[in-house]
Amino acid sequence: MVALIENPLRVGLQQDRVPEPQILIIFGASGDLTQRKLVPAIYQMKRERRLPPELTVVGVARRDWTHEFFRDHMREGVEQFGSGLGSEASWNEFARGLYYFSGDLDSPDSYQKLKTFLSTLDEQRGTRGNRAFYLSVAPKFFSEAILQLGAAGMIENPKKQRLVIEKPFGRDLSSAQALNRVVRKVCDEKQVYRIDHYLGKETVQNLMVFRFANSIFEPLWNRQFVDHVQITVSETVGLEGRAGYYETSGALRDMVQNHLMQLFCLTAMEPPNSLDADSIRGEKVKVLQVTRLADIDNLGLSATRGQYTAGWMSGNTIPGYREEEGSSPESTTPTYAALKLLIDNWRWKGVPFYLRTGKRMPKRVSEISIQFKEVPFLMFQSAAQQVNPNVLALRIQPDEGISLRFDVKTPGNSLRTRPVDMDFRYESAFGQPNTDAYARLLVDCMLGDQTLFTRGDEVEASWRILTPLLQVWDAPAPPESIPLYEAGTWGPVEAELLLTRDRRKWRRL
Ligand code: BG6
Repeated sequence: MVALIENPLRVGLQQDRVPEPQILIIFGASGDLTQRKLVPAIYQMKRERRLPPELTVVGVARRDWTHEFFRDHMREGVEQFGSGLGSEASWNEFARGLYYFSGDLDSPDSYQKLKTFLSTLDEQRGTRGNRAFYLSVAPKFFSEAILQLGAAGMIENPKKQRLVIEKPFGRDLSSAQALNRVVRKVCDEKQVYRIDHYLGKETVQNLMVFRFANSIFEPLWNRQFVDHVQITVSETVGLEGRAGYYETSGALRDMVQNHLMQLFCLTAMEPPNSLDADSIRGEKVKVLQVTRLADIDNLGLSATRGQYTAGWMSGNTIPGYREEEGSSPESTTPTYAALKLLIDNWRWKGVPFYLRTGKRMPKRVSEISIQFKEVPFLMFQSAAQQVNPNVLALRIQPDEGISLRFDVKTPGNSLRTRPVDMDFRYESAFGQPNTDAYARLLVDCMLGDQTLFTRGDEVEASWRILTPLLQVWDAPAPPESIPLYEAGTWGPVEAELLLTRDRRKWRRL
């Protein structure tokens, strides 16, 4: 347990302003994300008075819904997935600002009608032409929607109009570059907010504070003291009915290219000159530019994938990936990926970063662990137990916190050692974190703060690292070519080899 010392850190990444009145237009509003995440997050922010009273939300999708139907559907979402409705009066006040517009993403006429509708809302609700267009549609529709918005003259004004793009941004380097070209054709980078919801998590933002607001860790944060780094994002969930998307995506695109690479950047980057969005994002790009798969000529030594088979979790039998509704019995889509990255710079030369993520793992854990070098000479050979290297573990979720592992002498006459953890837990220090990642990001976008969003060159730099691997993994292959692991286990044996080959092992979580 850590005692809190009164010390108001003067760090950025802090929201203390309320955005201008505006309209948030969600394309793909009949999808899960809007009902489960976006609207509950906006409602929470509205109740906390972090959004202006004029805030208006327009859901756009093809279905023939009415405003009333949309409002009821969103209410269910808030009740089921949000932090509660509060009073009827507060919901009713919010619901009055919710609208639905039925339109086709590829029809110029729909955009013209939407444009007129938004102008009417500007007059009725005082939203002054300020708009954020949120693309929550299937990625294959991103380009079309952006081009149509451009052609309809709806994102011309960099001061008033913004574009929010959900992940995944591209499928590989060349498609990400192509999408960036489309984006740049119709708007300025300053208007673009590429979402990675991991950046909205408190503990992810804390990585920078931890590294750069404390003096004792940074001197150790380099090749001299660090043996290697492990980044794990393990999930217990499986496909969750998203086979249509997941079959074309897989673990590398769904989790590694975005969420894990963001954790990687924040751990490995140099201190930014300031807290403005471009200084931070510039440092991330710099570290990505010198990062590579460990052995580009032998990708088998750099990475491994896996797919879960039927298994047993929390007393239930779990179907294998190929048996899940919508996936194919021949599928080679990886639900697990582990890779070894190296960084060619002064700070990190020779220090491997091992990344792993998987679905249907025994435990939901996201953690970054910095594993320090062993002591150069061991005096305690007489002790029966081995001395364990120090580990600094940054727990992103759940049980958010930070722990430092070190060895101590166990009481008694003999000289035995045992590792213990010095532990900081967010919950005991601050109570349960109550700001949802999407809430944080939506408000930032409406404020025009791009710090927690991925810049165009950043997304390309991260695809550049992974594309050689994707080319191999995407190639048509027989079903038996992909390593398998049972649901409820820590991944395929091949993933163990990635570390045992280097005389290391994955941390037990
Ligand atoms: C999403 C992925 O981006 O992140 C999902 O598409 C994954 O497959 C989810 O389950 C994990 O997010 P979180 O916040 O639950 O760790």
